[in-house]
This record gives sequence, C-alpha cells and structure tokens, in this order.
Amino acid sequence: MKGKVNRVVLVGTGFVGSSYAFAMLNQRVTEELVLVDLNKEKSEGDAMDLNHGMPFAPSPTKIWFGSYADCKDADLVVLCAGANQKPGETRLDLVEKNTRIFKGIVEQVMGSGFDGIFLVATNPVDILTYAVWKFSGLPKERVIGSGTILDTARLRFLLGDYFNVDTRNVHAYIIGEHGDTELPVWSHADIGGKPILDIMAEKDEYKVEDLQGIFTNVRDAAYHIIQRKGATYYGIAMGLVRLTKAILHNENSILTVSAYLDGEYGQSDIYIGVPAIVNRDGIREVLELILNESEQKQFAHSVDVLKEIKDPFFN
Ligand code: 2OP
Repeated sequence: MKGKVNRVVLVGTGFVGSSYAFAMLNQRVTEELVLVDLNKEKSEGDAMDLNHGMPFAPSPTKIWFGSYADCKDADLVVLCAGANQKPGETRLDLVEKNTRIFKGIVEQVMGSGFDGIFLVATNPVDILTYAVWKFSGLPKERVIGSGTILDTARLRFLLGDYFNVDTRNVHAYIIGEHGDTELPVWSHADIGGKPILDIMAEKDEYKVEDLQGIFTNVRDAAYHIIQRKGATYYGIAMGLVRLTKAILHNENSILTVSAYLDGEYGQSDIYIGVPAIVNRDGIREVLELILNESEQKQFAHSVDVLKEIKDPFFN
C-alpha cells in the first residue's frame, strides 16, 4: 500500500467494470484508475472515451489502459472479470469457469508485487472472494467481496418506496449469500431509528405480508433485470464505488460486504455477506448482529449452501 496518490486497478472492463469506471470518474474517488482487460481494443477505447469526459468531472482522474505490472503500486485492485449469468443461470452455476479465470488473474496481480486490497465483484462473489483470499495469500481483512451490498441497496430502495421516505433514511440489511439463499434482517430494520415492524403495527395501511413480497423482489431482482436487458451493472457499479470510497478515504463505513468469518455468527472458513466496518485497512471488523431464531437458521443454511459448493474446490 504505497504511493503518494491513490491508484485503483480495475481488472475486467465489461458492463460492470466500465460502469464502475464511469461512476468513479464522476465521484472524486481516486487520482489514478488503470484499466486491465484481455480485450485490449475495448479497454483502450474505454480509456479514451472516459478521458474525454474529464473536463466535466469534479476532479481529475488519470485513466489509462495498463497491464498487471501497474498493480505493483496499486492501493486497490477491483476484480470484475469473468463470465456472467445467462438468463436462467444462477450465480452459483458460474463457479468453475470463474474460479479458473481468477487463479490466473490473481497470480498475475500478486506477481507484480501488489500489496494492497482486493475488491471482488464477479459472481458467485462469496466463493470467488474466498478463492482470491486463498490464491493471493493476503490477510483476510484485505480481501473483500461486494457481497450483499447491492441486495441491501435494493431492499432500502424498495422500503423507501413502500413507506414513501428517502431510501437513505432506511436502515435494513440483507445478509448471507449474494444469491438465492440470502435473507433480510427484519429484526434490525428501521426508519430513522424506529423499527419497521413497529411502524407497520401502528397503521392499517401497512401489511406485514408485504414485507415478504418486498424481499422476494430484492432476492430475484437480478433475474428480472437479466431477463429484460441481459445483465445488471449500474447498481453494482455504484455499490463498488461506495466501497472504494470507504476504503481509500478511510471512512469506517458500515456496509454489507462478503467478509471472512472466523467465529462470528458461529461460523468459520467462509466468505459471506454481513455488515462490516470498512476502512483503509480493509475490513476493520465484522458487525455481529443479534439475530432472531429464524434469521439464525436461514443464515446457517446460506453458509451450508455456500460451503457445499466451495469445499470441493478448496479442501
Ligand atoms: C446482481 O445481483 C447479477 O449479481 C448480480 O445484479
């Protein structure tokens, strides 16, 4: 983690990667952004295109098409490379293909002398974050997955809409796998400090059953979007920028990321979505919520499902 200016290397400039680069440019996040991709032409074109927007940016970002050698002085390497879901595929269907791709990428990043933080976005994100931790040999705090950051954002958005309040005043988490076994933590969901379950109990217009519908829409959002436009990218890109800021600007922000559990929530040897405090050192601390019995069970099930997929690859 050297260098006087912040450098982010983005590996993979597909839909998610290039949306991330665009969002980064617009939010005063880093001084340097390096694009790395097998498709040289596409990434060179992206670098040119993004540079032409610089006169309109809030502050200058130096952007160029680079190589793995540029990771040596990087503070953060963001991994968006790999295959994405086709309509009907689950995130877990991608595991074999993307684990193989990631082995090659992480070897090249580490071969540069990289000593910063990895941020992983490619699916299945929880398994691939674990893979990056294993392949890189870096401390667990310095390997972070985007986890349920987007699912949590989707939940906050939909709850904001339902209660007609600013989504930024809605505090609620989705935890677990970024995928079909994730769960909402209703026991800790509040709006402006007032528990959502209390708000609902006070007014007839709110029906507790509606919460299940809201959660189903969150859980299945990616399927709905992929069916319509083939991929999801703007939401996750903005989530990745939020995480990048929390890291580079040492914000100590609480975000639902894929973090390594070492006894927290009674689990270990797994990367999975949980709220965590994120700063310049990576994951400072996993926030251990006191879950109710049903939430505990659902979370344990999510861990089991991920372990069943992960263990044959890494044990
Ligand atoms: C998403 O949730 C596909 O993981 C991606 O939008």
